[in-house]
Amino acid sequence: MKVIVTGGAGFIGSNYVHYLMEKTDHSVVVLDKLTYAGNMASLEGLPAERCSFVKGDICDAGLVDELVAGADAVVHYAAESHNDNSLDDPRPFLDTNVIGTFTLLEAVRRHGVRYHHISTDEVYGDLELDDPERFTESTPYNPSSPYSSTKAASDLLVRAWVRSFGVQATISNCSNNYGPYQHVEKFIPRQITNVLRGERPKLYGAGENVRDWIHANDHSSAVMTILEKGAIGETYLIGADGEKNNKQVVELILTHLGQPSDAYDHVKDRPGHDLRYAIDSSKLRSELGWTPQYADFDSGLAATIDWYRDNESWWAPQKDATEARYAAQGQ
Ligand code: NAD
Ligand code: DAU
Repeated sequence: MKVIVTGGAGFIGSNYVHYLMEKTDHSVVVLDKLTYAGNMASLEGLPAERCSFVKGDICDAGLVDELVAGADAVVHYAAESHNDNSLDDPRPFLDTNVIGTFTLLEAVRRHGVRYHHISTDEVYGDLELDDPERFTESTPYNPSSPYSSTKAASDLLVRAWVRSFGVQATISNCSNNYGPYQHVEKFIPRQITNVLRGERPKLYGAGENVRDWIHANDHSSAVMTILEKGAIGETYLIGADGEKNNKQVVELILTHLGQPSDAYDHVKDRPGHDLRYAIDSSKLRSELGWTPQYADFDSGLAATIDWYRDNESWWAPQKDATEARYAAQGQ
């Protein structure tokens, strides 16, 4: 198969490209605009004969059409992905997440190409800390932020293109990913790199918000499973039963790095901050036989910390600008 991976120079997209190179014979075309979040260094070491790179915008209909015409499948990761940025300037989220998805859908419709849409658990809104239910495929959409509302809009476009035009699409909604190559604006890499630079982690509000962590490698294996075995028109939730509150995660990072576990600062909370996400991934496990391989968050986190310690040249160029943005927002 020839697979187009949009956003393949980002955190999760690059993980998927490496995964496809290792586990399959597919060839890959990465289509990525290289925004501040894209990094060619995340794609180093890939076999040139099976993997090519096109710098471009998923909103560019001519370019997208030309690439999709020669492909067997599109796996769509490209997005503006950070909630804090969406609160500061929502416009790029509308362009990339909504118009970009529309542009891809029109191209796969014209050329009859298989499409998999990468989405997020945030489309379902949030849960109470003591809610016994977790998100399932039938949870109603209730997004909170400009980011999650544009992701929800993109999911609904996919559903409509399946029903109205017979597009051969599947959707997955995954929980919070962690692992190597994640941009330092995101929670776990921000705190690890703060401590590595002798600065204190920054916890929004009281730190009670819960996220359901999954290693990026497990996200990639789930997407591969859905691309191979998923039923057209279906949605699959991806999660690894990794609920932790933010305070617990910061304490683990500090302890792994030999610091007192309370050596962090509380900073201004995120407006509209979702309280808790939690995924029930039973459908993916029972219908498609997927299981996560990185079930132990603590050891996955330790390996991730080691990676950031050993790869300062990858993240250091982004760190100052990222912290300057946070400082301007009081965070
Ligand atoms: P990221 O911000 O690390 O990477 C996004 C990539 O998309 C970058 O390489 C960027 O250059 C590219 N891009 C942005 N706009 C583009 C455009 N207009 N045209 C082409 N390329 C463009 O994001 P990520 O964390 O790797 O997330 C990837 C996908 O997974 C997103 O769709 C996100 O909503 C989804 N997701 C992320 C998580 C998570 O925890 N990070 C969890 C669930 C779902
Ligand atoms: O749930 C999936 C989503 O997870 C993805 O769709 C998003 O693309 C991805 O960015 C992520 O969204 P979150 O908003 O949950 O992730 P973030 O890393 O920004 O924050 C995780 C939690 O940590 C959240 O409760 C806010 C908090 N936080 C974040 C930062 C950056 C802090 O306490 N301090 C921080 O410095």
